[in-house]
Amino acid sequence: MSEIKFAYWVPNVSGGLVTSTIDQRTDWGYDYNRELAVLAENNGFDYALSQVRYMASYGAEYQHESTSFSLALLLATERLKVIAAVHPGLWHPGVLAKLGATADHLSHGRFAVNVVSGWFKGEFTALGEPWLEHDERYRRSEEFIRALRGIWTEDGFSLGGDFYRIRDFSLKPKPVRGPDRPHPEIFQGGNSTAARRMAGRVSDWYFSNGKDFDGVVEQLRDVHASAASEGRSVRFGLNGFLIARDTEAEARETLREIVARAHRPSVEGFRDAVTQAGKSTSDGKGMWADSSFEDLVQYNDGFRTQLIGTPEQVAERIVRYKALGVDLMLLGFLHYHEEVEYFGRRVLPLVRELEASSPARESVSV
Ligand SMILES: Cc1cc2nc3c(=O)[nH]c(=O)nc-3n(C[C@H](O)[C@H](O)[C@H](O)COP(=O)(O)O)c2cc1C
Repeated sequence: MSEIKFAYWVPNVSGGLVTSTIDQRTDWGYDYNRELAVLAENNGFDYALSQVRYMASYGAEYQHESTSFSLALLLATERLKVIAAVHPGLWHPGVLAKLGATADHLSHGRFAVNVVSGWFKGEFTALGEPWLEHDERYRRSEEFIRALRGIWTEDGFSLGGDFYRIRDFSLKPKPVRGPDRPHPEIFQGGNSTAARRMAGRVSDWYFSNGKDFDGVVEQLRDVHASAASEGRSVRFGLNGFLIARDTEAEARETLREIVARAHRPSVEGFRDAVTQAGKSTSDGKGMWADSSFEDLVQYNDGFRTQLIGTPEQVAERIVRYKALGVDLMLLGFLHYHEEVEYFGRRVLPLVRELEASSPARESVSV
C-alpha cells in the first residue's frame, strides 16, 4: 500500500494559521515562503496548498493571490506539487484551465487546483459578484470542475451550463499528461452533504477539516459511497495543526497558550461569517457546524485532529488515520521553518517505520 502523503498550508496570508496573539515565527511574504517550499520538499512534503483570500476577515489582513503565488513556489522547487485554491464565481473555468496548462508546463506537471466554494460573503459583495445560496455554490463548483476537466482532456469541448458556457473549445497545449495523471489533480474543500456529493461525482480529492477518528470515518463512508455510486473513487485529505515537541507537556502547553491568547473578536467574527455561510444546509453538516470557540482558533478545526504531543504520539496518530483510509495529511504549524524541519527529522521517520510494520488498512464499509 502506498505511503501516506503530506501537504502543508502555504502561509500566503498574514497572521499565521491560528487567530492568536501568541508569537508565530511565520511570515506571509515570498522570501520566507520560497525557503519554506524548498525546506518542505526536502522534509517529506509532497504538496503545498495555497489559500485564496481577497480581503481581510478574521485577521489575514494581507493576502498574496493564490495562483500567481503557487506558480512562484513551483518555479522555486523541483518536486513539490503546489495546489492553487480558486473560487468558481470569480474565475471563468476556461481562463483557469489556460493558466493551469501553462503553469503545468513551466513546472513539468506539478500544478494542481483546490476548488473552494466559498464562505466569505463580504468578499463576493466587495467584488460586485452575486453571493449564491450554499447548495447553489456547489452546483456551480461542480459545473466548474466538469468544465476544467473537459477543457484539459478533450478537443472541441462544449458545455451549455447554468453558470458557464463553452463552445467547441480546444486548449493547446493541454497540461502535461502522465500514465496516472490525465490532467492536473483537482482537490476540493467543504464537508457539507453538497460537498460530499460533489466529491463523489467529480473531484479527485476531498479535503476534510480537522476531525477525530469518528469524524473521519463518518465522512469517509459517505464520500466513498457517493463515489462508488458513480463508479469512481476519491482520495481523502485531512487537515491537522501539528504541534510536536520533545515532551508531551511542552506540546500541550503550546496549545494552551495559543487558545489562551486567542484574538477573541476575530474568532467570534469568523464564527458569525461561517455560520451565515452554512445556514442553508438543512442537515447541519457544514464544515464548521459543530465547532467550538477553541476549534475555531485554528480556522480549519486543526486542533481536533489532535496531532499534539511527542514525535512518537503524533506519528502513531497519523498512522492510525491512514489505517482508517486517510491518504494525505494537510498540516499547519506555528513556526513553519523550524517545525517543518523538526517534522522531517523527528516525526516522518517514525511514520514510515510504523507504516512498514502495520500495512493493513481497516475497512470502512460503504
Ligand atoms: C482544505 C480546505 C481549504 C480551503 N481553503 C479555502 C480558501 O483558501 N479560501 C476560501 O475562501 N475557502 C476555503 N475553504 C472553505 C470552502 O470554501 C468552504 O467554504 C468550506 O469548505 C465550507 O463548506 P461546507 O459548508 O460545504 O462544509 C477551504 C476548505 C477546506 C476544507
